[in-house]
Amino acid sequence: MKAIRNAFWASTALCAATAVSATELEVTHWWTSGGEAAAVAEIAKAFDATGHTWVDGAIAGSGNTARPIMISRITGGDPMAATQFNHGRQAEELVEAGLMRDLTDIAKAQGWTEVVNPPSLLDSCTVDGKIYCAPINIHSWQWLWLSDKAYTEAGLEVPTNWDEFVAAAPALVEAGKVPLAMGQQGWQQKGAFDVLMIALLPNDIYLKVNRDKDAEVAAGPEVAKIFEAISIARDLSKDSNVQDWNQATNMVITGQAGGQIMGDWAQGEFAVAGLTAGEDYHCLPGLGSKEILTTGGDAFYFPVLKDEEESAAQAELAALMLEPAVQVAFNLKKGSLPVRGDVDLEAANDCMNKGLKILSGGDSLPDINQLISSDTRTQLEDLLVEFFADTSITPQEAQERFADIIADAD
Ligand code: GAL
Repeated sequence: MKAIRNAFWASTALCAATAVSATELEVTHWWTSGGEAAAVAEIAKAFDATGHTWVDGAIAGSGNTARPIMISRITGGDPMAATQFNHGRQAEELVEAGLMRDLTDIAKAQGWTEVVNPPSLLDSCTVDGKIYCAPINIHSWQWLWLSDKAYTEAGLEVPTNWDEFVAAAPALVEAGKVPLAMGQQGWQQKGAFDVLMIALLPNDIYLKVNRDKDAEVAAGPEVAKIFEAISIARDLSKDSNVQDWNQATNMVITGQAGGQIMGDWAQGEFAVAGLTAGEDYHCLPGLGSKEILTTGGDAFYFPVLKDEEESAAQAELAALMLEPAVQVAFNLKKGSLPVRGDVDLEAANDCMNKGLKILSGGDSLPDINQLISSDTRTQLEDLLVEFFADTSITPQEAQERFADIIADAD
């Protein structure tokens, strides 16, 4: 009898131990395109392998759709266990309200301050000396993606810089192609505006406008050149009748469009479509005019949870996101660069290797989300939506309104 009783308690203890370790965590993010879903599945797979369970909380649409939902759940007392935000200031009010978990102990135990590169990624997670997020990748907006199919069918060479891209546009139109694919959403239009500013002007103009909020520079002759350039982009994308960024990427993938200014998350779509960088498509960092990247991308934040088991599992998930194997598996699918300088992306394609080379040379600038507040970003995106929708708005009028927003920016 005693042997049976001991066996019963042993099995109960084992179940209890298993039950304690097997915790479900809900994770929210906005990665719903083919490439994004393939990438986030790599983190989920790694977390499930620990015995815990990743409950996927994908929110369709862009970050502008997802972030208000994430924020209202956290502030409304119904927090998820982990959530994506971009590197920078998007979660600063949640952190200041004490709603987000301090990860400093985990960061120290995992040596994040020694391995994260560039260190500015951790600076973006740090408030009052404490670390509140796990940076998971480096994405840069500074890319022009070009369809070899579109240019070949139009009898053209693939452009090697923005000026050649603009010059080739009329022949693309003649061939029935859309020169510039762009989703008709403010974050995409404003993203292209920032890429043009960085590619076509000295770096300090972008910093004076967005870091220093210098309204005089924003209203000045250098930035006027960018309003002329975005006006050309408005014309070249007028027949790009799609909404989501990956629909625009698909126009390039299928050869309906010549090119798209988009962050390097577009690579995930080319990969899922089975296209080869340097053969089926080409990529121009800094629009081919200046080899530079911005250190944008994604980080996970962890709302404070009451449940001890969930909190323990949160700590495991945060640590796991920066592990070398997870960094390689996730970033190769995502088309982004790892946040660690000590991993070998031997499977990196031609475009990723261009990015790694630029990053290792230190030619990078902060991403816009690391410089301006969400409120300022929304105002600027709304201005670009209006500018693209209403061709009666002149570059000069748009620039005046731009300078006014920068004057009040925070
Ligand atoms: C960005 C994010 C990327 C990418 C993109 C489009 O904000 O950093 O990971 O997914 O949105 O959804």
